[in-house]
Amino acid sequence: MPADPNALRHAFGRFMTGVAVVTTRTDEGNLVGFTANSFTSVSLNPPLLLVCPGNHLSSFAAFSDARRFGVSILSEGQEDISNTFASGKADRFGLCDWEAPAQGIPLITGRAAGFVCERFQVIPAGDHLVLIGRVIYFDSSDHAGLGYGPDGYFTLENERKAEALPVPHTRASVLLEDGDHLYLTEDADLFTICVPTDESPLQALTNGLKAAGIAAELSVVYAAYDEGANGRRIVFRGHSRNGHPALHATPIDGIAQATIPDQALKSLLRRFENEHRRQSFGFYIGNEHSGDVFPVTER
Ligand SMILES: Cc1cc2nc3c(=O)[nH]c(=O)nc-3n(C[C@H](O)[C@H](O)[C@H](O)COP(=O)(O)O)c2cc1C
Repeated sequence: MPADPNALRHAFGRFMTGVAVVTTRTDEGNLVGFTANSFTSVSLNPPLLLVCPGNHLSSFAAFSDARRFGVSILSEGQEDISNTFASGKADRFGLCDWEAPAQGIPLITGRAAGFVCERFQVIPAGDHLVLIGRVIYFDSSDHAGLGYGPDGYFTLENERKAEALPVPHTRASVLLEDGDHLYLTEDADLFTICVPTDESPLQALTNGLKAAGIAAELSVVYAAYDEGANGRRIVFRGHSRNGHPALHATPIDGIAQATIPDQALKSLLRRFENEHRRQSFGFYIGNEHSGDVFPVTER
């Protein structure tokens, strides 16, 4: 069955690789090069590697005949160089720094590793050549290599940065009422739990209350607001008759005057105190500093 070239390219492209620039100097002294991810280390003894130049390359003839060639394994941050050698029509070597540490073969400066090879074996293979070289010079650095995968370039540096970012999470809290009192924690906060990603805030809060041994009935959502880079907080209303030894029954009247370290919670409690007095409650949506309050009819 003849393979659909696009589907095959897509399938081959699932294989994640590094990126190299393959270079040579023609007998006339011209420098040519192309971007390749077909680099493979082949043998330690003798030291061999291979790359596969395709017959679509403008430099194909030069690589078919080349007695020597170079391979520069690109480093993180050298995406531009990879793009230059993959598509640029201008003088590619004029657009990057390079040096020729052996036999006049150019290697890209700032590379993760570099090899200069003598032609060892050339195997025609369909529309590409398998160009095997014997390594006559090599170097390596501590630079991390540039990666290439189905979504384009990737670097471990970017992966590390993404991992270091704070993961936004949702906290679910409850304004736990008992008549004219509200149960607050020891540090003057609401009973709160972090919502696992596979649970809804209501589910998570219900489970959290049960796990803490607090008998409570949850009712409506009272507020939902962003807490900066850390995530968001969903505050439910709820009723409990027995509270919990770790919770302090605090009179709702005057609760906003209590020492509440969290300023967003303080203003939420101020609103709650007023609304409790009027027995008419709203729903707040916004962030820690500003938002909108909508009237709510309780079930
Ligand atoms: C990440 C990447 C890897 C590549 N690997 C190869 C390869 O192994 N062999 C090849 O012939 N072309 C490969 N190419 C395509 C050539 O770099 C591209 O066709 C190049 O521009 C051809 O040079 P030319 O413009 O001088 O013909 C690759 C391109 C990219 C972006």
